[in-house]
Amino acid sequence: MRSLINILDLSPAELDELIAIANDIIANPGKYSEICKGKKLATLFFEPSTRTRLSFEAAMYELGGNVLTVAGADSSSAAKGESIADTAKTVSCYADIIAMRHPKEGAPLVASMNATIPVINAGDGGHNHPTQTLADLLTIHREKNRLSDLTIGLCGDLKFGRTVHSLIEAMARYPGVKFVLISPDELKLPSYVKQGVLKDQGIPYEQTTDLEAAMPALDILYMTRVQRERFFNEEDYLRLKDSYILTPEKLRGAKPDLSIMHPLPRVNEISVAIDDDPRACYFKQVLNGKYMRMSLILRLLEVL
Ligand code: NCD
Repeated sequence: MRSLINILDLSPAELDELIAIANDIIANPGKYSEICKGKKLATLFFEPSTRTRLSFEAAMYELGGNVLTVAGADSSSAAKGESIADTAKTVSCYADIIAMRHPKEGAPLVASMNATIPVINAGDGGHNHPTQTLADLLTIHREKNRLSDLTIGLCGDLKFGRTVHSLIEAMARYPGVKFVLISPDELKLPSYVKQGVLKDQGIPYEQTTDLEAAMPALDILYMTRVQRERFFNEEDYLRLKDSYILTPEKLRGAKPDLSIMHPLPRVNEISVAIDDDPRACYFKQVLNGKYMRMSLILRLLEVL
């Protein structure tokens, strides 16, 4: 039994395999429509979510399986003080696989150590979000036909943005990848990623506050929302929330084949005027997330 807690739990070969399965699901959906018959996915989301939870649930239904869910922290026994370990042991009695989102960093890891079924980290606090990275990797692969030799700009809340942390960990393993870290000083990448991944592995990166100056070099621009729920005070959030707003004017210096990505939800960071630009990929990411979660469920349940 294996869980997915951190994106590095998957080797590059396993990631390639997940991408290949997802592409096959896209091409031949009928082949997979009964494959998880009789299996149950439990979604335990102790933080808000639209895409991640619904895409996990849609993924399981499209594989012919079933879904058990608790509607939120307030309606499960967590509200009565149950530990994550006990919740994990309990859910293991009812389901075959768990997807868990939790505000505490490390909660899905604790769950995986106590569950007798695979646990998928669907976002733990400001730490990691490996299945968003799966969606991102499939999107990059489908847009660029490669995962190497790319200059990737990450813009916005690099401090609390868990999708950024997981994406950097994943992409740093491919040759020729460079990162441009674009954020206000207060929202720079935490040192466990900057030092622990980029510096220690000698991965080329630049840090800047200037999105427009960085734009011409980028193959991918990954915008992020300022993570209001992780701030200690509202004033800091209000001061920083509109640090970067991508508008058509700001794209003037961009490459014609730039891919504009965002894990969503968008607040203000990308003007809706960009949604019809062929370079906008954020709604493709939403759909790709479902296919990669289907692929992941198949592998973790050892159905494929
Ligand atoms: C992201 C998250 O939850 O970290 N959303 C998502 O799962 N697609 C990004 C965000 O909330 O800003």
